[in-house]
Amino acid sequence: MEINKIMKYKINNICCIGAGYVGGPTMAVIADKCPNIQIEVVDINKVRIRQWNEDDFEKLPIFEPGLAEIIKRCRGKNLHFSNFVEEKIKKADMVFISVNTPTKKKGLGAGKASDLKWVEACAREVARNAIGHTIVVEKSTLPVRTAEVIKEILNAAQNSSSNESHLCSFDVLSNPEFLAEGTAINDLMYPDRVLIGGENQEAIDSLSEIYSRWVPRNKILETNIWSSELAKLTANAFLAQRISSINSVSALCEATGADVREVARAIGSDNRIGSKFLDSGPGFGGSCFKKDILNLVYLAEYFGLNEVANFWESVVKINSWHQKRISEIIVKKLFGTVANKKLVILGFAFKANTNDTRESAAITICKNLLNEGANLIIHDPKVTASQIENDLNINPIKFLGNENSFLNAKSGIWEYSKYINNLEIFNNAYAIVILTEWDEYRALKWTEIVKRMVPPAWVFDSRSIVNTEEVRDAGLSLWRLGDGFGD
Ligand code: NAD
Ligand code: UGA
Repeated sequence: MEINKIMKYKINNICCIGAGYVGGPTMAVIADKCPNIQIEVVDINKVRIRQWNEDDFEKLPIFEPGLAEIIKRCRGKNLHFSNFVEEKIKKADMVFISVNTPTKKKGLGAGKASDLKWVEACAREVARNAIGHTIVVEKSTLPVRTAEVIKEILNAAQNSSSNESHLCSFDVLSNPEFLAEGTAINDLMYPDRVLIGGENQEAIDSLSEIYSRWVPRNKILETNIWSSELAKLTANAFLAQRISSINSVSALCEATGADVREVARAIGSDNRIGSKFLDSGPGFGGSCFKKDILNLVYLAEYFGLNEVANFWESVVKINSWHQKRISEIIVKKLFGTVANKKLVILGFAFKANTNDTRESAAITICKNLLNEGANLIIHDPKVTASQIENDLNINPIKFLGNENSFLNAKSGIWEYSKYINNLEIFNNAYAIVILTEWDEYRALKWTEIVKRMVPPAWVFDSRSIVNTEEVRDAGLSLWRLGDGFGD
């Protein structure tokens, strides 16, 4: 595209439907980079919008490094958060659909297909309210050919827009988001690529022009709309596949005396393989990998490609097996029972630098340990107690400071701890289980901690973050994922 090409569709007002992990940060960065565009982020969730408008920036609904600074700069100037969905659609030249697309729980395709009811609701909302020409951008991750559904809904509105005051027309683009949580702002500022799929070049140019204000042109890829939708699902499937691959190798390392970190370094040095996304861990979590792969599986099954479906489904299956495997190792190492034993869980978020727990391996592993009767103290620097309660679906019971009297009375209970520095949470614990790679867990004072624990005390490090010598020298037994030399 020529740099100074005159745009047929000039974008002055953007409306983004969905103020979540994608809508919030993405619009914040666009607002920051495009001060002349007014951006309205709308959501039906009143609590979320109130949090986005909080004066205390610590209370924004999403924790992402660098996000609060941008909100401080732009909110109230060209970035606004509200529940006025209809009104803001009316004013918009471009509407981003950035709502949730979870796996369907019931009906056709349940357990695999994405539930598109929120996307459909948005399309209908846009159809009812848009005025003039509106470019509708799929930001949510969607099954291939969803744009067709959106177009059908919009076209119906276009054809019935009889009077002059409500004349409307639409273009639909696919512009999937590739940000990862915890690094969202950096990913949005310096993306590996921006993908725009569409049919009308003039609409593509309008969106491309927005990104080109900070993204080099050669990183803005244009494809047909279906390739764009499929590329997003495939990218997540490839990333998740690497994690399942290295995690499966971790089990083999433990069995054979190899070390998964050494194996990862050796294979990652091959340029064709590359070193990223080879960290073995407690199994991939996050709101998207599992859902997007299952969506791909559903798609393959729909087209009768059962071998393709089975191949991708195995990536999810081995992830579940891996989480179960870790839970079982913990029980086995603690003499076959964790009943009434206090275990300290370090980390509940699905990865560091986010407060998101969706599909976190910690949920499954904690549930397994609670089922075995363990009493858990759960610490996470960003996840709240109520979020953990929601995820575990068990009320917390206070037992910190009362471990001895409680130990014989109750089992399978848990309590949240906000504090770790005074080391009190380690008192009378049989084991520490590290599930999220938060930096503060790297610098723990093992020589102090061991004195408070019940010997023989264990550290289970599923993220390879502890200094192994320090832990062992302190007198603790250590299990590290994929460490064939382990205790
Ligand atoms: P989210 O659940 O955090 O946010 C979605 C928001 O949409 C919610 O606040 C919800 O209230 C709102 N919403 C739903 N229906 C609405 C409607 N009809 N009108 C107004 N608001 C409505 O979800 P998310 O994590 O931001 O993900 C959004 C999409 O982006 C998903 O398709 C996801 O697969 C994709 N994605 C997510 C990430 C990520 O890191 N979370 C990264 C890339 C892509
Ligand atoms: C992932 C993709 O990385 C993004 O490109 C994509 O946009 C996003 O999904 C999405 O569509 O939602 P995200 O889930 O936020 O991003 O975070 P990742 O960094 O990919 O981590 C996912 C999971 O894999 C985490 O549980 C993480 O701990 C785990 N992981 C990651 C590993 O176990 N090892 C690794 O080497 C990397």
